[in-house]
Amino acid sequence: MQLIKQLSTKRNDHLLLKAIFEDEILPEFLVKETEAITDFIDKKVSYIYLGKKQELQYNSLYSLAQDLALNAAYDYQIDLSSFVTENLTINDVVDAFTKGINFSAAKLYNKKTFTYKENPNNIELFIEQASQSVIDSFNKARILIESQNWARNLGITPPNELNSEQLAKIVVEDFKEYKNLSVKVLEKKEIEKLGMGLLLSVNRGSVYEPRVVIIEYKGNPDSNQKTVLIGKGITFDSGGYNIKTGRNMLGMKYDMSGSAIVASVLKSVAQLKPKTNVSAIMCITDNRVNGDASLPDSVWTSMSGKTVEINNTDAEGRLVMADGLYYGADVLKATRLIDVATLTGAMVAALGDTYTGIWSTTEKAWKEISDAATIQHELIWRMPFDSDYEEFMKGSIVADLKNTDYTGHAGSCSAAMFLKEFTKGIEYIHLDVAGTNDIDEKPMFAMTKTLTELVLK
Ligand code: BES
Ligand code: ZN
Ligand code: MG
Repeated sequence: MQLIKQLSTKRNDHLLLKAIFEDEILPEFLVKETEAITDFIDKKVSYIYLGKKQELQYNSLYSLAQDLALNAAYDYQIDLSSFVTENLTINDVVDAFTKGINFSAAKLYNKKTFTYKENPNNIELFIEQASQSVIDSFNKARILIESQNWARNLGITPPNELNSEQLAKIVVEDFKEYKNLSVKVLEKKEIEKLGMGLLLSVNRGSVYEPRVVIIEYKGNPDSNQKTVLIGKGITFDSGGYNIKTGRNMLGMKYDMSGSAIVASVLKSVAQLKPKTNVSAIMCITDNRVNGDASLPDSVWTSMSGKTVEINNTDAEGRLVMADGLYYGADVLKATRLIDVATLTGAMVAALGDTYTGIWSTTEKAWKEISDAATIQHELIWRMPFDSDYEEFMKGSIVADLKNTDYTGHAGSCSAAMFLKEFTKGIEYIHLDVAGTNDIDEKPMFAMTKTLTELVLK
């Protein structure tokens, strides 16, 4: 399967795959099972049976497209217009197929040495006449899914091939083509000069330097409004001295996903060119142990000046993010802060791998992100900020905060409260993608699309 980079408006000699519904005149020999495809090879046409027309949902089209990319038995041209219903416009259909097929067809990191079995059949999206609005929908969907795949590929890459220094380098390299983005990499010396003591504390156990990558897009220089996205970039989370045991350490290569997500949003923004100002900050290090790694009971000073007593070195995400958030607020002068992190195991317990947990300081911000998620067909659920959740952490005897709530309850909410301490009271949205980012070892990278949609306006 190749990635779909174009809409075709010319028929070729492949089978034309058409949707067919219950109440239509059904050809003889048609298999009347939902999503069954019947091929009429001599007539160069195939039908996919989809039951009741009014019940067809965007999500079923999207998974159908994902499945076609992996399992199509022939080369098809998909007759997009045949999938349009009262509830699904041609733009929805274009969007679902472009994203679904390109999600599955993405070539991600793979070092299998035997021949990798790839579906040899190709699919084209066919439409007789493409209006400007259809072309726009296609282009937007293509940009969004390409950026998502870029992030997915970084996520799945093993930690021995993606340390902090390498991740920063890849972003610089890959973003060179976007002349409307500025990319700045802060190295260890500059990070020390800024006083990012929490990020540096996490990095102590590493043989690699930390990196802070700042990507900026200025689509509206006349405005002082600026959204700053901050992403957790732990290229591997061993837990540190509070080391993870057994299977709990597996999959922790994905702990840099938040940083890849925020970068991928800027990658889309550079191409969609909205009239807004958006920046991204990637807070990058790994969390390892060595002879001088951060010890539990240590006290470190953050860039904000607040001091933090470490009662668990495995709650490292909030440490690197705290300095990133403060940098966004204080140096970049954000008017809206948004962070994304694979932050807490408790998130997986609360919402599983279905919904991403969202905290927001204002109703307006919640409405904006929930509208964006609806447009992009991603599932989010609002979680509470409440001072109850920070009480324990504020009880440190020797510092302003402890980094972990040990009451054992609502661990995702206390993590969110910890982060809010570093936002200088700026409007703030926090996303914990620990459950939804990677599922069964595979990279999903939900939220790249929703966040892009959110910052477009
Ligand atoms: N990276 C983990 C969170 C995580 C866990 C993501 C499982 C994906 C799947 C994070 O750094 C972490 O270890 N959090 C601790 C916090 C605790 C010590 C308060 C956790 O959730 O156990
Ligand atoms: Zn951790
Ligand atoms: Mg998971």
